[in-house]
Order: sequence, then C-alpha cells, then structure tokens
Amino acid sequence: MLGVKLCGIKLENPTVLASGILGVTKEGVDRIGKAGAGAVTLKSLCHEERQGYKNPAIIVWEKGMLNAIGLSGQGISNAIKDFRRLDDVSVPVIGSIFGYRTEDFAHVASEMSKLKPAMIEVDISCPHVDYGKPICSDKGIAAEVTKAVKKNTRIPVSIKLSPNVDDIKEIAHAVEKAGADAITAINAASGMVIDIDAKKPVLANKIGGITGPALKPIAVRCVYQIYETIKIPIIGTGGITYGKDAIEMVMAGATALGIGTAVYYRGINAFKKICDEMQQWMKKNKVKNLGEIRGVAHK
Ligand SMILES: Cc1cc2nc3c(=O)[nH]c(=O)nc-3n(C[C@H](O)[C@H](O)[C@H](O)COP(=O)(O)O)c2cc1C
Repeated sequence: MLGVKLCGIKLENPTVLASGILGVTKEGVDRIGKAGAGAVTLKSLCHEERQGYKNPAIIVWEKGMLNAIGLSGQGISNAIKDFRRLDDVSVPVIGSIFGYRTEDFAHVASEMSKLKPAMIEVDISCPHVDYGKPICSDKGIAAEVTKAVKKNTRIPVSIKLSPNVDDIKEIAHAVEKAGADAITAINAASGMVIDIDAKKPVLANKIGGITGPALKPIAVRCVYQIYETIKIPIIGTGGITYGKDAIEMVMAGATALGIGTAVYYRGINAFKKICDEMQQWMKKNKVKNLGEIRGVAHK
C-alpha cells in the first residue's frame, strides 16, 4: 500500500533518511534500513576531507533545529575504503555528493558510482557554505553541474535544491532540462537564532540552516511549485515529522519523502511510526495507494 517506484528503484515505503543525519557508516545505513526507512541517503561527501565549523554547530529551538555543521566529512576516497560497496545493504542507498567547482562534482560522481549506490543525490544547496550559493541560485551553473554529473555516471541522479532562491521553479526546470532524473526539495532554509542573554548569535558560524517543523510550509510550497513545473519525481523533504506531514507532501506532488530532523524528535523508529500513521490516514480516507493522492492539491 505504501510501496513506490523512484527512478525505477523499488522502495518498500516512501520514507528516505535525508542526508546528514546518521548516514555515515555502513552499519548505520543498514540499521536505519532495518528500522523501516524505504531508502537511506548518505551524508554528503566531496573530493576532500573537511573539518566543518566550530561548536556550537547545532541547536534545537522551539520550532525546529538550526545547524551549521559545515559539511564535515571524510572525503570520497576514504568513504570508498569504508563502504566498499553500497548495493549489499538491507535498503536502497542514495550517495550524496558535493564539490566546490563543476569538475569536483564530476569527479566525486564518478568515484561515488564505484560504490554502486541506487541513486546519487547532488547537494548544490547547503545554506551556510559560501560556494553553495551561486550554484543553487544560478540556473546556468546548476544545469552545468547536472550535466557534468550525468556525464560521469549511469546511476540515476537527483539534484537537491535550496529554498533560498528567488524562483525555485526556474532552477528545477533548468536541472530537469540538463538531464536530472529527480529533484530533492529542499535543503535547509537560511536562518539565525540570537541568545538574548549573551547578546550574540548562538551558532559559532552565526548563520545556519533551519530544519524540522519550521521548514515544513516552505518545503510544501517548494514541492508544490516544482511539481507544476517539471515531470521528473520529487523527493519532498523538510519538516516531515508525522504521517499527516507526509500525506501533505504527497498531495503537493512528492513521490518519496525525505526525513531528517524527525529522527531527533522521534528516534530511529520515526520511519515506521510515520508509515503507520500514513496507513491509518489512508485507511480512514479509503485511499489504496499514494498514486491516488499524489499532486491532488493541484486540482
Ligand atoms: C545536522 C544536519 C546535517 C545535514 N547535513 C546535510 C548534508 O550533508 N547534505 C545535505 O544535502 N543536506 C544536509 N542536511 C539537510 C537535510 O538533508 C534536509 O534537507 C533538511 O534537514 C530538511 O529536512 P528535515 O526537516 O526532515 O530535517 C542536514 C540537516 C541537518 C539537520
């Protein structure tokens, strides 16, 4: 009843662990698959090792989370040694990549393909890394990166978009035309929280990415607008915490559902809980499969 097909990949249910949350070791990936996720996205990897930003790099406030981790990570060559392959775990794995220049994206895509992930997600949208900005908000560069990645892999590619742009439809259209097989929408929105006692921003980086419940209406709006513009599937991501949020995202047009911050609120069983709540809603509303309600909010 919840099974979906995403770029030809069969997912037992539409929930996908979003990039950056737990997807750093092979054992972790397997554990999340066994806990009920339909697919798992790895933390974004680039051509080199990165330290990330100083602490505090993450805070939880009343309506969500704010983070400026700074894309810390081991780099693609060490990841290849660690993971060895990604097609032998309990769940389809999405390899997330990023780079500073187009050539880096192309190189990391080609290296990531050696691990045989089910899909590659291209993070052009980190809200607190400077080089992310011109890529995510410039349709020409976004298309150039998409073409370069597509040229270097045969694995389906999803481009991850940012809400921090003037017109997300324009970017979605450009990357679809450049050959993207799917779109992941959205990455975190740019934000700041000030500690009024300390009289300064809480995060060491000052600016961070808003995720969790506060992001949901922005994510739903983006998915709705993208669905009207393109034909490729959307991994709707942002603030999905309960089954009702997931249903809302499907009604906006999403095929699969990225889930990140909800793991903090609801634990590793968040995927199973969200699926159970979706099924309860579907039963009550006599909906047999998600295809019946996908994009229904557009009618
Ligand atoms: C701590 C943290 C780290 C993240 N790291 C990445 C990352 O490495 N690459 C990426 O594309 N998105 C990253 N994200 C963004 C998430 O994948 C997702 O797009 C965002 O959190 C919105 O979904 P959510 O509200 O369900 O968390 C990160 C988010 C959080 C909270």
